[in-house]
Amino acid sequence: MSESQLWHDVDDYFTSHLAQDDEALRAALRDSEAAGLPHIAVTAPQGKFLRLLAEIQGARTILEIGTLGGYSTIWLARALPEDGRLVSLEYSARNAEIAVRNIARAGLDRLVEVRVGPALESLPKLADENPAPFDLVFIDADRVNNPHYVEWALRLTRAGSLIVVDNVVRRGRVTDTDDTDPEIRGTRAAIELIGSHPRLSGTAIQTVSGKGHDGFALARVL
Ligand code: SAH
Ligand code: DHB
Ligand code: MG
Repeated sequence: MSESQLWHDVDDYFTSHLAQDDEALRAALRDSEAAGLPHIAVTAPQGKFLRLLAEIQGARTILEIGTLGGYSTIWLARALPEDGRLVSLEYSARNAEIAVRNIARAGLDRLVEVRVGPALESLPKLADENPAPFDLVFIDADRVNNPHYVEWALRLTRAGSLIVVDNVVRRGRVTDTDDTDPEIRGTRAAIELIGSHPRLSGTAIQTVSGKGHDGFALARVL
């Protein structure tokens, strides 16, 4: 058996016992696939992990950067109370349209707002609205901008908020200082910013999953 088949099988096993998807989540993936969106949503166990993190945090407000078809959005929004709020920023109008449908089918449209456009344009507009500080920020978009997203997350949160950055390992490329790929450079810059910022305490965890060798960073705002 190939290693990646093994990782898939383990994910399937954990999913079936711990992170069961329901019709709304299955439909979200099905419609995303039918629309030709790439298969880059979080896995079900990762989605459940995000939900648990938001629940442990007692999150009432969540900011997501990178919606795609709304799969991670649905997992996260399920952690919110009735009067909670999740704002998700998505570059592509087409992805956002699919996400909005998926989120509505999951019965979460009262809680979730998807904003279309480059996140670096949406974030200053959001800040101008003086929103209540976000309790959790999930960064999962264009990694070249990850240091900027971490900076914005700091402006939009409070002491005790959590910041999660997805895809910080990329099959180990993160350690390659010669890698000139702007996405790898952005990832390294974000990790080094979290490590050096006086208002952040963070770590990063490598993962294997059906999606290969990757990982996420988690930081707490001080
Ligand atoms: N969080 C999703 C996956 C997101 S994939 C999930 O796990 O289900 C990354 C998404 O970020 C894509 O939909 C892509 O269109 C979006 N994106 C890329 N660049 C962006 C930008 N500058 N601003 C906002 N979204 C961006
Ligand atoms: C990939 C995976 C992700 O989780 C993501 O947000 C973007 C890309 C990938 O495997 O290429
Ligand atoms: Mg991701």
